[in-house]
Amino acid sequence: MVKKGERGREEGEENDDQPELDACGWESGAWKRLANPRGRQEVCLEFAKKGKYKKEKKLNRIYIIERKKGTPIEYVFKVEDKDCKPIKGAIVDIWQCDAHGIYSDFKAENTEKQTWLRGYQVTDENGVCRFKSIFPGWYEGRITHLHAKVHIENKIVLTTNFFFPKDMEDEIYNHNAPLYPKGINPISVSKDIELRVDTSTKRHDTLVMKIEKDANKNLSASYTIAIA
Ligand SMILES: [Fe+2]
Repeated sequence: MVKKGERGREEGEENDDQPELDACGWESGAWKRLANPRGRQEVCLEFAKKGKYKKEKKLNRIYIIERKKGTPIEYVFKVEDKDCKPIKGAIVDIWQCDAHGIYSDFKAENTEKQTWLRGYQVTDENGVCRFKSIFPGWYEGRITHLHAKVHIENKIVLTTNFFFPKDMEDEIYNHNAPLYPKGINPISVSKDIELRVDTSTKRHDTLVMKIEKDANKNLSASYTIAIA
């Protein structure tokens, strides 16, 4: 996998000057923490608008699947401060569509008052929290994504999307066709209604989760979130 900083240079997006690095060794600037000179996973400070399907629910739970069918996946989030220290007690709130691209609790989709694929967890002393979910499907106009919001001390400090490596995503849709009847998501980053305004793919690339498969083929997707 190409590291973010390397990809930026390949695309000619970065000049030859050495970037200014912060205490954690990340580049400073509008898109902080894009490059990871210390080999850490990509991290971001800020990304996107509030997702239009978001509902403020208080669903403190690890298992957000309810009865939804799809490829099981565990999400692992780590929240840390600008000095790379874990933040305990951060609330990570996530929501996603099901394998058919539908969200719960949305009038236009006749899912009002349903709660599946929504929930929040509080980070532990290592700044970590986890969710058991299914790999999301997709819907018109968007690449496959997961919504997340982070709250610290009653303040929303991050609202974002997370994405998945395209090859892994395609494999899941291909190999689980009965569960994901729409097949592979044809929307590219440049066509995504949220991402296409960007002239580069950095915004997207910064927010791709790291997917791993263990010996039993269990999937996990992880991401470290740095809060300024
Ligand atoms: Fe969405």
